[in-house]
Amino acid sequence: MAQTLDPELRAALANRVRFYRELGIYDFYRRELFQRSASAESPASKSPMDPNPALASSLDAVSGKLFDSNVQTLMAARKTAVSSAAANISEIGTTKREQGVDDPVAALKIVREDLGDCTRCKLYKLGRKQIVFGVGNPHAQLMFVGEGPGADEDAQGEPFVGRAGQLLNNMIKAMGLRREDVYIANVVKCRPPGNRTPERDECETCSPFLMRQISVIKPKAIVALGAVAAKNLLAINAPMSDLRGRWYDFKPVGGDPDWPGSRLAVTYHPAFLLRDPRQKGEAWKDLQMVMKYLGIVPPKTSSE
Ligand code: URA
Repeated sequence: MAQTLDPELRAALANRVRFYRELGIYDFYRRELFQRSASAESPASKSPMDPNPALASSLDAVSGKLFDSNVQTLMAARKTAVSSAAANISEIGTTKREQGVDDPVAALKIVREDLGDCTRCKLYKLGRKQIVFGVGNPHAQLMFVGEGPGADEDAQGEPFVGRAGQLLNNMIKAMGLRREDVYIANVVKCRPPGNRTPERDECETCSPFLMRQISVIKPKAIVALGAVAAKNLLAINAPMSDLRGRWYDFKPVGGDPDWPGSRLAVTYHPAFLLRDPRQKGEAWKDLQMVMKYLGIVPPKTSSE
């Protein structure tokens, strides 16, 4: 017998579908019954964005994690600390409006359009002036990911233009690259008030757009600047000392199946380096690892 949906549940489902459409996701399927009951029973599989268990079990978006990262020796830690992004976006599907658009400039434009004048999380009403999407070369081999815009970035609409940005520019230059050669983005696109750390729900809501930027740019290497970027990208909760100094395989699911993914390295956030310049040498080691992988020969300094 045909089942009718409770009107409240129907409205909630419609809202959820609209939310996914805004993210550029159009395809959904219903999981097999046994999978649905399993997910309804397992608290770990419930989306933290979904306070309504009936909704969670009624609508199954295309399954598959938005990203899948091989974190080598940190796998054990990851198991217990499946963080925000992975848990939340496990139900996000694979078809995005920019898929099949070969030109990354056009594809990034689509992602930006889908982001729109975003009001998806509370940051839009907490004093942000504008959305800071990302900047740089859409064909970049190297992408830097920071935490979120500060006051200068919020004013100018571009990531890393304040003091931390000046240091990042110097780091890029020391690698023998120009700012225009790389792509720079943040986990959250709106300034958190008072430059506080972005909260989990804010990161979770915004992360799909970062994943889409990465899927479009397909950088060979990604550098996560600081713990917030690292933890959100890798879905892992570990101290910086454990996260740095190694490579991670990173691939946003739903990206081009023929693309093998990026390698991801973690280094200190430039704002941290401004506070503790003694760590610059360690950060330089991280960047040298990246340069070696990308085959970049560092420019000679005048004293050499
Ligand atoms: N810090 C960040 O993490 N991102 C910026 O864009 C600026 C400062």
